Amino acid sequence: KCKMILDLDTGIDDALAIAYALASEECDLIGIVGSYGNILVEDGVQNSLDLLELLGRPDVPVYTGLPHASTKDNFEVMPISALIHGKNGIGEVELKKADRTPETLPGVDFLIEAAHKYGKDLVIVPTGPLTNLAAAIKKDPTIVDLIGKVTLMGGALTVPGNVSPVTEANINQDPEAADEVFRSKLPLTMIGLDVTTRTLLTPKETQQWRDLKTLSGEKYADLTDYYINAYKVANAHLAGCALHDPLAVAAAIDPTLVTTLDLNMKVDTEGPYAGRTIGDETRINEPALTTKAAVNVDKERFVARFMERLTKLFSE
Ligand code: BDR
Ligand code: CA
Repeated sequence: KCKMILDLDTGIDDALAIAYALASEECDLIGIVGSYGNILVEDGVQNSLDLLELLGRPDVPVYTGLPHASTKDNFEVMPISALIHGKNGIGEVELKKADRTPETLPGVDFLIEAAHKYGKDLVIVPTGPLTNLAAAIKKDPTIVDLIGKVTLMGGALTVPGNVSPVTEANINQDPEAADEVFRSKLPLTMIGLDVTTRTLLTPKETQQWRDLKTLSGEKYADLTDYYINAYKVANAHLAGCALHDPLAVAAAIDPTLVTTLDLNMKVDTEGPYAGRTIGDETRINEPALTTKAAVNVDKERFVARFMERLTKLFSE
């Protein structure tokens, strides 16, 4: 059975990714690493702890990741992130505080330990900046050959970005870290805006969770409705909210949900296109193609599976 680690900036679609991972029997969720991005790192860690409590899984350990990119001194939440996810990251929804604290082992060390312990069974799903993963491979380069696979939400190859015309939010937070990850020999799958902006959720679906009349169904309907409403303001061209992060978890579990293109990729780290995910021209003739970039998604099959799994989880 695969062992999954989520490295996320919890965040509404990150909260949906946690629920999808818990609802999936194919993998054990062995831990969550909290990152910065939609929120400050400590708020994301707290959101993950509280969501796990809400979902009846206080046994899943939560680790604290790095608070900002290694090339920067600090981190401030972007106004667009606060608009889409709310100031507390989960759409201003109040959750009961978990009666535990995060693990003392730093998130980066947890990634390294898990790589040595689980090897090819380990699947890492980063749905925030790639700061923690880049730090882990820098600290212990041997893990690159150990880890089973990394399926990340980030980047844009064939469509415009969501922070600038060429950059996607997660990669934009730490282009240097993302470039180190893309240029490493890690077996990567990139679930970018190319596919995630095609998998949409509407209030019709969240009403099904509300109708369950359970606490988790009600809270998840509330936070997702906040996200749907924010999308109407920020991304009015889309007919719902994008299921970015849960699609990465779903594709990690079942790669047949997406069609991918094999490429050696890089991330621009300076100049007007800093943060852009693009083919690496210096490795174009190298046979070892390390990244599978998703360019198409079976959206009906994914959204149906997403609803089936989360609705069942919220019924329990
Ligand atoms: C990504 O950025 C974050 O705001 C979301 O949680 C998602 O991971 C989309 O660009
Ligand atoms: Ca995220």
